[in-house]
Amino acid sequence: MATKLTMEKLASLCKRRGFIFPGSELYGGIGGFWDYGPLGVELKNNIKRAWWKAVVQERDDMVGLDAAVVMNPRVWQASGHVDTFADPMVDCKVCKKRFRADEMAAHKHEPESAHGHVVEVKAMRCPECGGELTEPRMFNLMFKTFVGPVEDDASLTYLRPETAQGIFANFDNVLTTTRKKLPFGIAQIGKAFRNEITPGNFIFRDREFEQMEIEYFVRPGQDEQWHRHWVEERFNWYRRFGIREENLRIRRLEPDELAHYAKDTYEIEYLFPMGWGEVEGIANRTDFDLRRHSEYSGRQLTYFDEETQEHIVPYVIEPSCGVDRLFLAFLFDAYDEEEVRGETRALLRLHKALAPIQVAVLPLSRHQDLVPPARKVWDLLRPHFMTQYDDAQSIGRRYRRQDEVGTPFCVTIDFDTLSDEAVTIRDRDSMEQVRVPIANLAAVLREKLEGS
Ligand code: GAP
Repeated sequence: MATKLTMEKLASLCKRRGFIFPGSELYGGIGGFWDYGPLGVELKNNIKRAWWKAVVQERDDMVGLDAAVVMNPRVWQASGHVDTFADPMVDCKVCKKRFRADEMAAHKHEPESAHGHVVEVKAMRCPECGGELTEPRMFNLMFKTFVGPVEDDASLTYLRPETAQGIFANFDNVLTTTRKKLPFGIAQIGKAFRNEITPGNFIFRDREFEQMEIEYFVRPGQDEQWHRHWVEERFNWYRRFGIREENLRIRRLEPDELAHYAKDTYEIEYLFPMGWGEVEGIANRTDFDLRRHSEYSGRQLTYFDEETQEHIVPYVIEPSCGVDRLFLAFLFDAYDEEEVRGETRALLRLHKALAPIQVAVLPLSRHQDLVPPARKVWDLLRPHFMTQYDDAQSIGRRYRRQDEVGTPFCVTIDFDTLSDEAVTIRDRDSMEQVRVPIANLAAVLREKLEGS
């Protein structure tokens, strides 16, 4: 039976179990920055691996890239971010708090608009104290930084607000080195930074976050068909990794919600406790970026079409998602509570490919006879799976602990192991237990973990 999980309860579980800690907590924290703990980093890596496998490894039309976070500032002038990557903000004249004007409009049931749109906030009051608000002012979300020892306009640049521009700037390099034919795509996973006016909802809106982006280059005229392909492909990926369909939806953005580069965008949204929220945007960026970079760099970023013997500027379909938001959606979707023998069992029904720990090795007790075989089993499994050895407290409590962090299988070493050379595998979801010879253990676990 699924229970209502609030954002606060999930954040508390994440901290207690070592998934996520508030950034710089030691010094009172810093809004919009989070640290991923021992289990969080595993889940995050598994999400990224699952994405990379689906969009690069399993496709013949995709390659990967890892571009630098800091780029020449001309990149951000060409991309339009210097001029338009801004949100309207208002200040309360009484309590001095700062708000995003479009979010305040959203509270009045109007859609939150894309960056760069001015919003009417007349007749609105401060949501905290009811005070009078200033007129909206545009606030650029890019973090500024300086390259080299002198802090002046010539050394000013930005921490990237999206990974996409690293792909556009390398379009020619990738094309020349891979000799890819249209349609083809470049995928990248990396950090992005936005000085959000109101970070919040735990890791939903951060100032430092990670994106997984694809720029998929197609012939002009085939863009709409590829746009549909990617919306379907990406929606199915969420279902494949266990997100329940009733918690997912696709929404086409209204023209006034589109980013400055987009002709059309679909969002994949998840039903979070605070309502539907974007986890992925799939935009038709047209030839906007390649044309702008050609114009600003003076180098023609084109593709020689052997069919027509012409140089063309490809159109781009961009599926772009945030790792942190996916992390949040996967946790919300996986969380469950059920009654077992009069007690509440909390568990994460995470997809087996995403679970931070795949196998927990649990000796029945710390009895001296059980430790050597238990450590032998652990040594046997460690090269193959992400494992954890736990011998603290009763076996029942250890099962619950593993359930709560989503470990699909626990392997228990008991006194019978000493004579029958077998162990018990306990299944997280069904709690069923099967006895397996140690000689077959790795193969049985592999089949169980991969067969889903
Ligand atoms: N290159 C296109 C682009 O960056 P976006 O809709 O601004 O588009 C893409 O961002 C994805 O990045 C979003 O769907 C979301 O998952 C994630 N994202 C954006 N801003 C974020 C933030 N402040 N905190 C966490 N994730 C964010």
